[in-house]
Amino acid sequence: MTRHLITSAIPYINGIKHLGNLVGSQLPADLYARYLRARGHEVLFLCATDEHGTPAELAAAKAGQPVAEYCAEMHDVQAKIASGFGLSFDHFGRSSSAQNQRLTQHFAGALADQGLIEEVVEEQVYSNADGRFLPDRYIEGTCPNCGFDSARGDQCDNCTKQLDPVELINPRSTISGSTDLEMRKTKHLFLRQSLMKDRLDAWINEKTDWPVLTTSIARKWLHDGDGLRDRGITRDLDWGVPVKRGTEDWPGMEGKVFYVWFDAPIEYIACAQEWVDAGKGTDWERWWRTDKGADDVRYTQFMGKDNVPFHTLSFPATIMGSAEPWKLVDYIKSFNFLTYDGGQFSTSRGRGVFMDQALEILPADYWRWWLLSHAPETSDAEFTWENFQSSTNKDLADVLGNFISRITKFCRSKFGEMVPEAGQYGPAEEALIADLTARVARYQDHMDTMEVRKSAQELRAIWAAGNEYLQAEAPWSTFKTDPDKAAAQVRLALNLIPLYAVLSAPFIPTASASMLAAMRVQDPGWPDDVRAALAGLAPGHAFDVPEVLFAKISDEERDAWSERFAGIRD
Ligand code: 2FM
Ligand code: ZN
Repeated sequence: MTRHLITSAIPYINGIKHLGNLVGSQLPADLYARYLRARGHEVLFLCATDEHGTPAELAAAKAGQPVAEYCAEMHDVQAKIASGFGLSFDHFGRSSSAQNQRLTQHFAGALADQGLIEEVVEEQVYSNADGRFLPDRYIEGTCPNCGFDSARGDQCDNCTKQLDPVELINPRSTISGSTDLEMRKTKHLFLRQSLMKDRLDAWINEKTDWPVLTTSIARKWLHDGDGLRDRGITRDLDWGVPVKRGTEDWPGMEGKVFYVWFDAPIEYIACAQEWVDAGKGTDWERWWRTDKGADDVRYTQFMGKDNVPFHTLSFPATIMGSAEPWKLVDYIKSFNFLTYDGGQFSTSRGRGVFMDQALEILPADYWRWWLLSHAPETSDAEFTWENFQSSTNKDLADVLGNFISRITKFCRSKFGEMVPEAGQYGPAEEALIADLTARVARYQDHMDTMEVRKSAQELRAIWAAGNEYLQAEAPWSTFKTDPDKAAAQVRLALNLIPLYAVLSAPFIPTASASMLAAMRVQDPGWPDDVRAALAGLAPGHAFDVPEVLFAKISDEERDAWSERFAGIRD
């Protein structure tokens, strides 16, 4: 059995994430982690909150809280919601942890020792009233392109033009509103990624099995324009990892912190240390150090397409550049975006469904199923309430839920709440077993290669096969003329329930647990042999008719939710 390290892109701390964020990283990572655990592999599944940078500072200021306090609270909020969605992280860490601080400073020192850090003096906007440099998001002014009066230093939200703070008309500090700004010299550290271009290029070229979405973005960044540019890895901010060279002070860098995108991926490693320090594990190095056993690990990362450059180039540059034996990623599964009803999710305009709201209106499995079965793999995908309603009602209520309710109720009415004994399997039962054996093999292939939509399609077909069998064999009619044959049909159909529960658990873990509980079965393990799995419930085995597994979404609910989450219209 292989050991699998799985990480999901770590969500920013500021605010609750929407369904598009969820399906782009955490949810498919959870699907894969659950699947691999069920197949008997040893898995370490890590995620964390990404807590540094200006967005965190700004959100804390808006909430009227010190930033450390804001982050601690929001971490707990995000952890609770993640658990509500059944995200089975082995640890949900924090990029502001002491472990990450130490490790980030360590990497900076190692990179400097390798000659890969350059000190660069540049001019940046300084606010005399605030007594600090202002990063792009702390400067606002009038857009030179469209006249919008609240354009940010890096971009105008009205016309989307990318801006340089010096281009803004009447620039002002968003902290104090002061216009007493000037350009001042400041020193920063640059990671000399350009020196590693050939190595990164060769490494990406080896990855012939990676999704095209991942490699095409990496190649674009490697080869477009000037190619891979050196990158500033420090900022003039208070909140972040203080700049140090290992454990030593870095002359001239006092009061500065590392750029959030430098320390965030290092948290993938630090999170494993946090996992050990929290008493949940015993050895993080065997997951992360190739000199300590991590050569045997297969490492998979999940993320949205906007994160790909940082994971295919910048973070590998940090790892390779350190010249230390750290584990490099083996596979990067990336996703396109999920749009909401013809537009974008928007926090500020209250448009779209956010993770906490989703759980308020329906249990996690409804969302998990829709999101995963519509994962934006080959292109962007769109959430509409009509599609959500029809997929839920068809797949979960009509196909899976109805099958379980129909067969358990029929058995109760004719044979009692136990698996009937009489009768033999005939050609129809043999055909179903053969069909399911082939389908389960295909399902495994898709899950192994992280083809999320194809996996969902195959799983749906596996559910449908049970329904089609019942429909064709109609034990309720057979019972009238040949009760023994009907008993055999019911026995096979009841045995499908634990099989379905195990196969479906990575997608809909709560419903799967209810299915097993109703059948009074502990985890029967992965069905390596479908025929054997379908003999799991012996004649005489008692069960309970389960509650309705999935309720249908009514037109009234659909319309009310659509209205509620439409946001403020322009
Ligand atoms: O896009 C985001 O939500 C970032 N916070 C992802 C960071 S992933 C990693 F590098 F840590
Ligand atoms: Zn503009």
